[in-house]
Amino acid sequence: MGETVIDGSEFFYRERGSGPVALFIHGFPLDASMWIEQLVALSDVRRCVAPDLRGFGRSDPSIRPALSMDEHADDVADLLDVLGIDLVDLVGLSMGGYVALAFAERHPERLRSLALVDTKATADSKDAKAGRDRMAAKVVAQGREAIVADLMPVLVADTASTWLEGRVRQMVTDTRVETMVAALEGMQQRPDRSSVLDEIAVPVAVIVGEQDVLIPPAEARTMAAIAGATVTVIPDAGHMSPIEQPGAVAEALREFWTA
Ligand code: MLT
Repeated sequence: MGETVIDGSEFFYRERGSGPVALFIHGFPLDASMWIEQLVALSDVRRCVAPDLRGFGRSDPSIRPALSMDEHADDVADLLDVLGIDLVDLVGLSMGGYVALAFAERHPERLRSLALVDTKATADSKDAKAGRDRMAAKVVAQGREAIVADLMPVLVADTASTWLEGRVRQMVTDTRVETMVAALEGMQQRPDRSSVLDEIAVPVAVIVGEQDVLIPPAEARTMAAIAGATVTVIPDAGHMSPIEQPGAVAEALREFWTA
């Protein structure tokens, strides 16, 4: 565990293990605790670092109305500077993948490899943007519980246990309302980064839950083809594959890094 100040804001990060550094970026509206199992499982091959992004988890509240993927990517680069780390194996889930792609575009010289988990390189469609506006209005008007009900069926597979749903609910309801609104705005504004994958010079792995309804395996395969990436489909998992099947996701990362 650690805390540091970046650009006037306090950042919290989890840390385990030693060796080359892997940095894990959480999804929306979650926090770094979603990676706990991977941090433990992979601590023998990597120094694993997982920050709570600006505004999320135990990091400071954000005072900005939009949290852009670029800004999160620059925060990650600043955190690497603070920790004295040059090169990183970056792992991002969903929104964390959008941030990882922004990092690959803005800080390519610092990337050793990229693992994209349940995520995509394309921008929001018009419908998706409208959906984000609706979600922002709903969470402000009705609170976090209201959006847990909307999100749960799309975040985890039908087979998810009650305990797992409890874990997801807790992370969602622990996320500040204004952070959700700012992150929805930031995701809405993100550009298509398919060209980043087309030009990427480091190994790329794509990992996706077999039952991910937000980014189905077919879409993940299309993205993987752009980068010539390996694809691992995780059985019995939806969009939250790292917490639904933590061992399988950790093994996929281990194989990718040690191949
Ligand atoms: C996430 O899991 O980070 C979100 O589903 C990403 C998104 O809403 O596009």
